[in-house]
Amino acid sequence: MKSDTGIALVDLDEDGVDRAFRADVLKGLRQRPKAIPARWFYDEEGSRLFEQITQVEEYYPTRAEREILEARGAQFAELIGPGRAVVEFGSGSSFKTPLLLEAIDPAAYVPLDISGDFLRESAAALAEKFPGLPVHPVEADFMRRVALPDEVVPLKKLGFFPGSTIGNMVPRTAVDLLRSMRATLGAEEGESPMLLIGMDLVKDREVLEAAYDDGEGVTAAFNLNLLTRINRELDGTIPVEALAHEAVWNDKLGRIEMHLRATRDIDFEVSGERFSMTEGETIHTENSHKFTRRGAYTLLLAGGWTPVERWLDAQERFSVILARATEQREAP
Ligand code: TRP
Repeated sequence: MKSDTGIALVDLDEDGVDRAFRADVLKGLRQRPKAIPARWFYDEEGSRLFEQITQVEEYYPTRAEREILEARGAQFAELIGPGRAVVEFGSGSSFKTPLLLEAIDPAAYVPLDISGDFLRESAAALAEKFPGLPVHPVEADFMRRVALPDEVVPLKKLGFFPGSTIGNMVPRTAVDLLRSMRATLGAEEGESPMLLIGMDLVKDREVLEAAYDDGEGVTAAFNLNLLTRINRELDGTIPVEALAHEAVWNDKLGRIEMHLRATRDIDFEVSGERFSMTEGETIHTENSHKFTRRGAYTLLLAGGWTPVERWLDAQERFSVILARATEQREAP
């Protein structure tokens, strides 16, 4: 349900069931191949497990991106300049945002997030860390154009989108988002906003698959927790022990796919509806696209952003790219 401010609210039925969760799960299980949107991973346990994923040995992206943000502060300062409003797409993460804010001397910080709880928590933590910095959290779905607070509108803007979250979207959705970001940051009002974005790199299949199927089984637990959540919240009878976590590189589509694969024929119910899976059938739960330099640039250009600079970690596993909104002009 949308409130009159356009913000998505959790809409519970008379039994306290999240209607959007149920609708997505039932639709996804009826479909062939079965697929459930990744946003439903993040209940309390899912959020805790995700935090743990970022710390496992095989999951390199978080450490690699941190290394870049730590090493390149002086260049960010030089290319971005002081006095910008930093608009973060997603509420600030514990360490990435401070690294950027410390480096560039911004005029304001504007975290955008659909979840008010996360938003308030991280905004408060940031405000404490940067006492002189105006912080203006906005609860909104950033997949569409977001109206920024009046105080922020006149400032020059820098969008910040770390974590290679752009890679969790299929390319056409990623382009839609890049275009929405342009609009949110004022590119259509003749401004010249910039964007600092994390994008993970294509590399050996073994390294990629291990990053999404770690030896400790944390990513497996994260993926399987979706089933536990369905059983708990949607009256499910899914035999969780009959599904196995799988992470596979899809070379044609340039992405790691996470699936839950049935290890035998199974029947189960969710919200009173019957489903079955044959041995080997999967539920597709997440994509993480990886990029070459040229692929990343093409995606950015398609979304209206011209690359300015690109940085890698020492082991060349991950990229952070600075881009500037491309001017609207007639062909050629
Ligand atoms: N965007 C990051 C990535 O794709 C983080 C992430 C999102 C992730 N969903 C995930 C990591 C699921 C592991 C599993 O790596």
